[in-house]
Amino acid sequence: MIYSIPYYIKIVFMICLLSTIEQCKASFEVLDPSYDQKNIRIIGQKNKKKVYVVIVEDQLHKKIYCVKQYCEPDKIFLSLKEVLISLIAESANIPVNRVRLIPAETFFPGKSYKKRIATLHTFTPGKSLQSINYPKVDIQQFNKRRKVFGLTRDVINHMSLSPNLAQIVAFDTFTGSKNRSRVNVFFDEKSNDFYGIDLKKAFLKDLGHLTYESIKKMYAAKSFTSRQIDALKIYCDTLKKLITKNPPSDICKKLDALVKTTNLNNKYVLLTRSSVEECKEMIRQNYNSTKKLVKLLDDIIKNHPK
Ligand SMILES: Nc1ncnc2c1ncn2[C@@H]1O[C@H](COP(=O)(O)OP(=O)(O)OP(=O)(O)O)[C@@H](O)[C@H]1O
Ligand SMILES: [Mg+2]
Repeated sequence: MIYSIPYYIKIVFMICLLSTIEQCKASFEVLDPSYDQKNIRIIGQKNKKKVYVVIVEDQLHKKIYCVKQYCEPDKIFLSLKEVLISLIAESANIPVNRVRLIPAETFFPGKSYKKRIATLHTFTPGKSLQSINYPKVDIQQFNKRRKVFGLTRDVINHMSLSPNLAQIVAFDTFTGSKNRSRVNVFFDEKSNDFYGIDLKKAFLKDLGHLTYESIKKMYAAKSFTSRQIDALKIYCDTLKKLITKNPPSDICKKLDALVKTTNLNNKYVLLTRSSVEECKEMIRQNYNSTKKLVKLLDDIIKNHPK
């Protein structure tokens, strides 16, 4: 079957695959203590009200990154979460940006407050769906205003447009992420791929449970089409991979290790500690409900007429 595919399609496919792998295996040479920071050039800036985003180029390895730092010092926990969530993404090759911590008291080009931590993100190709007016696609699983709590048929239909989208949606369910609005989904016209950015609002909602309830209700009202089932298969396989590779005890260990490296001063220790405990509770809760969700999906997929 694969032999009948024209060679130029195979080449395009390989290029797309390589760009995805590049995201998955980010090596962050610029953070190595032996790296000469003179090779880093600031090439852009995207300052928002609450966050500074500075785009830098590693001229030695020809790579682009974003340095992200919150304007308010009490937002430290958001930076830690971005790194944590990125580590989970790496375990299952999810197409979202990779993130590492730039420690406090460490100089790095593009870091605005030297004394505080910042995060370094692989640069995501393409532009946000919002900025290019990409038609329709919306994969947000939590939106109070629009009364979206879990998966909807629209989200499942949009997931069926690309395996990348189904993977990102599964990742958001597993990490209880409620921030996947159209500004935080990028589309790269060159590779036709979708990517997620902005991972901070994770482990805030038990999306595993909300999705379990929404799927049960949807399925009772009407069965899924074959196209929807195909999208749900990718979604469910991605959830299984995330569940196997990220038991809650591992995620909590990673979170503790991150907190340890931050050298928090007294003022923020308490604040971060209570956020960490709340986050751990949500990690465990979401993990258990996602397992239940996978069982439900397996049954639905198995019972779908071939
Ligand atoms: N990894 C990345 N690759 C490319 N651009 C990025 C990346 N991270 C951030 N940006 C750019 O910086 C902007 C702000 O970053 P981010 O979304 O992480 O912060 P934010 O505070 O949530 O802003 P917003 O409210 O716009 O979502 C993004 O909209 C995007 O244009
Ligand atoms: Mg954002």
